[in-house]
Amino acid sequence: MCGIVGYIGKSSAPEALVRGLRRLEYRGYDSAGMAVLENGSLIVSKAAGKVASLDEKARSEWPEDRFQNSRIGIAHTRWATHGPPTEINAHPHLDRSGGIALVHNGIIENYRALRARLESQGHEFLSETDTEVLAHLIGACDQGNLFQAVCDALHQVEGTFGIAAISADEPDRIITARRGSPIVIGIGDDETIIGSDAAAIISHTRQVIYLEDNDIAVVTAEGVEIRDLDRVPVTREVAELGFDAEAAEKGGYEHFMLKEIHEQPDSLRNAIRGRLDFNLGSSVLSGMGTSARELAEIQRAVLLGCGTSLHAGLVGEYAFEDLADIHAEVQQAAEFRYRNPLITRSDLVVAISQSGETADTLAAVREANQKGAFVMGLCNVVGSTIARETGRGVYLHAGPEISVASTKAFTCQVAVLLMMALKLGRGRRLSRDEGVRLAREIERIPELVERTIRQNEAIAALAGRYAEHENAFFIGRGYMYPVALEGALKLKEISYIHAEGYHAAELKHGPIALLEQGTPVVALANDIPGKDKTLGNIEECRARGARILGVITEGDEDARGFVHDAIAVPACHPLVATIPSAVALQLFSYHVARHRGCEIDQPRNLAKSVTVE
Ligand code: G6P
Repeated sequence: MCGIVGYIGKSSAPEALVRGLRRLEYRGYDSAGMAVLENGSLIVSKAAGKVASLDEKARSEWPEDRFQNSRIGIAHTRWATHGPPTEINAHPHLDRSGGIALVHNGIIENYRALRARLESQGHEFLSETDTEVLAHLIGACDQGNLFQAVCDALHQVEGTFGIAAISADEPDRIITARRGSPIVIGIGDDETIIGSDAAAIISHTRQVIYLEDNDIAVVTAEGVEIRDLDRVPVTREVAELGFDAEAAEKGGYEHFMLKEIHEQPDSLRNAIRGRLDFNLGSSVLSGMGTSARELAEIQRAVLLGCGTSLHAGLVGEYAFEDLADIHAEVQQAAEFRYRNPLITRSDLVVAISQSGETADTLAAVREANQKGAFVMGLCNVVGSTIARETGRGVYLHAGPEISVASTKAFTCQVAVLLMMALKLGRGRRLSRDEGVRLAREIERIPELVERTIRQNEAIAALAGRYAEHENAFFIGRGYMYPVALEGALKLKEISYIHAEGYHAAELKHGPIALLEQGTPVVALANDIPGKDKTLGNIEECRARGARILGVITEGDEDARGFVHDAIAVPACHPLVATIPSAVALQLFSYHVARHRGCEIDQPRNLAKSVTVE
């Protein structure tokens, strides 16, 4: 969603800000803006649409020396919440005097009350945003010290924020603060960079400080001084980012999504490396921070997530029940918090989130913590809020995922959930031999995915046959049911085709009415228990004119005979097969979207990290 960049230091601030914003484009946004200080005056430029438009606009509006000489500024990409994505609503917003500029992520929940109060004091607002209200509030609190003013204003605010502010009167500092919306500060060489995520910082430095909730920092070119909102100094460790600038670039691929699909053999190797114990037939997941005895006491597992992460949870549900004999259920994070869930101390709650920042998943984690559950995070972004608030869990090590549509994070989530199920299973139902066999199968995952990706060109060719339709169905059963859901989500996200994932048996209970001549039905017909029944369902669809794309097991000529087109995935353990099957459908969606000329990496209206409820 929204992105923040701040820069102070030796280089041109506008150039550094635009570079940072470009790195944040992947998060999804619909307008952008920046404010810089030069020669004691505050200069602002904003544009609806892309960062490229902002860059062009600022360069045409500002004299060349402004671009080169300004050393301090803040910038923002906005994903509209309060008010449409217009130039007026774009950040930065200014206070009444026009001397203070503010960028903000999050939502000020009491902004209406604050706005009414300020209006009664004569303030006039240009935009419909909660952020402009906060900018005015900071201005109203300002008595010649921006840090104090921001502190005073934030004390009056309810809701969430990650902010950065500058003042024409204090050209040597940026004030930044967070509550519920991340802020990372990069400590460079004679320069300091602020970002709402590390991608904005990585081309400057790998040394970073993550602010914690209610931290407020004075950022100068020389470094950072952090206090809490009561102005008490606090110390935050400097951490080293685990990836470099190259990892956040396309590296010759046409899209980040295609790059990330191709990265999966490596990301899966990283997720699995050192985590399988072939001696004990188990997995080594030290981040779970549990003893065998504690694991044995778990009565139920609740898997939480949103979007693609929710689908990974669904595979986990099967794995936990089948391998570990633990009653498992997946719950939408958004629903969990508000339904007053029944949770006990013997429940394991696993929060699955690539970004570790999804608002609903985070709220669900807090609810589960309140209720005394045993809560773990399964995150990709190191140091993210969910990773920190759960305190224990397993990192994916998938590397930065830039494309809005999740690919490598999903397959790593499933691989990690399988390893968790293996570990839980070895404390319960699974024998050593069974454990060793499963560990060997998990070890094969990167190679199985490599073999699937080799079919990229063939998949590209067959995708053209499906690209002209506006509706599609994905069906599967058993372990492949979640893969059908994920396949449909991927297709609709990036190609804008209306795609529905259904249990193969459910198709008859409604959706079959929509099948027409040529309607695409993507059937997960892998050679796993239930295949024959799925083949029967395929027949039902064919009889109504549907065109069937089957995901089948290599060498299964029987299944091939039932479908019009096939993508074959290598034979393997049926739970493991979910991963190459999902990869096959990622490639299918990618190529369909490409045929349709869609904006694959940043689909309309979508955001990479959804930080509002
Ligand atoms: C957004 C993204 C999805 C992602 C979901 C959950 O909708 O576009 O790709 O699956 O959020 O995000 P998380 O970071 O919690 O996995």
